[in-house]
Amino acid sequence: MSDTIKKLTIEGFKSIRELKDFELRSLNVLIGANGAGKSNFVGFFRLLRQLVDQRLQIAVGKEGGAGRCLYLGPKMTKQLVAKLYLGSNGYEFVLIPTANDRLIFEGASAHADSARETIEGASRAALLRALIAAGILAALVGGAVGIARLRRRRAFG
Ligand SMILES: Nc1ncnc2c1ncn2[C@@H]1O[C@H](COP(=O)(O)OP(=O)(O)OP(=O)(O)O)[C@@H](O)[C@H]1O
Ligand SMILES: [Mg+2]
Repeated sequence: MSDTIKKLTIEGFKSIRELKDFELRSLNVLIGANGAGKSNFVGFFRLLRQLVDQRLQIAVGKEGGAGRCLYLGPKMTKQLVAKLYLGSNGYEFVLIPTANDRLIFEGASAHADSARETIEGASRAALLRALIAAGILAALVGGAVGIARLRRRRAFG
């Protein structure tokens, strides 16, 4: 199970102001009161899935715009930060809102073992390069039990 997300940090997504170094196991059960944020947490993995499928803008549009994706909106939250740890591999990205209520990449970086590639810029190609560099071209499974899984398709080489 070395290809699963072991730990993650989410900052600024919906009701998640900051979830730092949150550890995931092979099975994760979310329990909480109505409105506690269970669906938002699962929604983060849905966003990741869409992001990998190059459907970020469609996903953001369906959510009702970038403002709705950011914790308490864009006036309060200037960026959405995600850090994924998969064993010795990791992937980080920062999304920022645009004037027309989209989310774009402010930056992304990936690291695999001792190698590290940092990618600046906002392009989709940069994201894909980063994902490939970390061996994370991914298939994600999200659901009511909040299982997050990344399936490695390309080894870092
Ligand atoms: N952009 C946002 N910023 C801050 N809070 C938000 C944002 N978007 C949604 N929320 C809050 O998230 C909460 C809903 O969270 P969510 O739907 O994940 O709860 P839940 O645990 O799945 O609840 P239920 O058990 O009813 O399904 C609401 O209180 C809503 O105000
Ligand atoms: Mg829910």
